[in-house]
Amino acid sequence: MDLQLTGTTALITGAASGIGRATARALAAEGVRVALLDRDAQALAETARGCTGAVIRVVDVTDEAQVVEAVSTSVEELGGLDAVVCCAGISGPVGSSIEEISLRDWNAVFAVNVTGAFLVLAHALPALRASASASVVLLASDSAFVASPGMVPYCASKAALVQLGRSLSVDLATTGIRVNTVAPSIVDTPMSRGDLGAQAFDSPPFNVQSPVEVAAHVLYLVSPRSRGINGTTILSDFGYSARSGFPA
Ligand SMILES: NC(=O)c1ccc[n+]([C@@H]2O[C@H](COP(=O)([O-])OP(=O)(O)OC[C@H]3O[C@@H](n4cnc5c(N)ncnc54)[C@H](O)[C@@H]3O)[C@@H](O)[C@H]2O)c1
Repeated sequence: MDLQLTGTTALITGAASGIGRATARALAAEGVRVALLDRDAQALAETARGCTGAVIRVVDVTDEAQVVEAVSTSVEELGGLDAVVCCAGISGPVGSSIEEISLRDWNAVFAVNVTGAFLVLAHALPALRASASASVVLLASDSAFVASPGMVPYCASKAALVQLGRSLSVDLATTGIRVNTVAPSIVDTPMSRGDLGAQAFDSPPFNVQSPVEVAAHVLYLVSPRSRGINGTTILSDFGYSARSGFPA
């Protein structure tokens, strides 16, 4: 299927690693000119090697002044903006009970996972409004719907991100800008390896998908092929959450 993305432009946050990197490379392979945003300069440069003509911006998505500068100069260099993909995210404390979690750690998770997306979108919207077919994709998680023990801040932040996407799609309904969310279960990336330990991935007793597989979901949502899909979430969890507790 031709995704009809050739010659369009996209800005990706969290582009230095994992799902963001795979998405950037997959978009670039479809002929999309990409702006790559992340706080990790060295790893961003590595992503850019797979993306012809990429624009690179080292930015902390929680810092509004940095976001304003990175988004405006990216749009200028790209000559417009058709899509934004928000992948920047952190796990925060894993395995801690709520009494053990500091306010600082709680705020840090929301700052990146929720406020970071808010800031990037708020400042990218004027450019997206000028696009003939604009799409926003937010990387949430199945943790927005089901919870693993010891991940309260992360789960709460991902649920907030899903609703950020849904409510924004309603606000933008008349503009032609679509907003959707992808919510995968475990993806083999530095984040999940950090949380679960690298050995957990040797012969895992759980389903794991690759960043490239998740990038394919993102590309479909970015593409005008999915123009009827708005305000929703692709829950990519191998059907885990569909299963009832009924013992049969
Ligand atoms: N790996 C999984 O199992 C999984 C599952 C579901 C959802 N997700 C979500 O997908 C997204 C990508 O995760 P990943 O697994 O590729 O993680 P990753 O750690 O490989 O990549 C995350 C990237 O975000 C960047 N980042 C973090 N904080 C930032 C900040 N303040 N400013 C700019 N960049 C920042 C990091 O530098 C890194 O490059 C995240 O939002 C994550 O929550 C991951």
